Amino acid sequence: QCKRLFDHNIALIGFMGTGKSTVSRYLKDMLSMNEADVDAMIVEEQKMPIKDIFAQYGEEYFRNCESSVILSLQSRRHTIISCGGGAVIREDNVKNLKKSSRIVLLTASPEIILERVKDDGGRPILNGNMNVEYIKELMAKRKDFYEKAADIIIDTDHKNVRQICEELIISL
Ligand code: S3P
Repeated sequence: QCKRLFDHNIALIGFMGTGKSTVSRYLKDMLSMNEADVDAMIVEEQKMPIKDIFAQYGEEYFRNCESSVILSLQSRRHTIISCGGGAVIREDNVKNLKKSSRIVLLTASPEIILERVKDDGGRPILNGNMNVEYIKELMAKRKDFYEKAADIIIDTDHKNVRQICEELIISL
């Protein structure tokens, strides 16, 4: 079990508000691993918040930044890689993540996602569409990408971060 844990990175994927960053922070302490947050690395590189990158340069530019950060993480070891919600839409990103990582998909119901993200203005994909219908629609579009990329799927509804991490470790 331990050998398997330390042979691989753990990449967390899933829709916005499924708890990737929260789980990543908790899990890295539980497993004494390093942490790489793809969105945070983009923000650091571009020196501006995600919503400004979208507003100034558009989504395609953001996706290119995302792909190049994911590529740069290939050589990392013992690392939890927390991906943005749209990262696995590009097949190359999935390929690059798979080279070094077990991919864990976090899921949650649209209603719970809305509760978690509704007061956050930093998610341009949901700008002007902060409602359950839109979340359902986008989730349906992305479902196959998420499920195809995932080695493990963990549902996060009605669980605290500790329970999620314990379930995740057992399934690794
Ligand atoms: C996005 C999700 C965001 C961020 C960007 C785009 C998406 O990350 O990468 O706003 O397309 O789902 P989180 O999933 O951490 O919110």
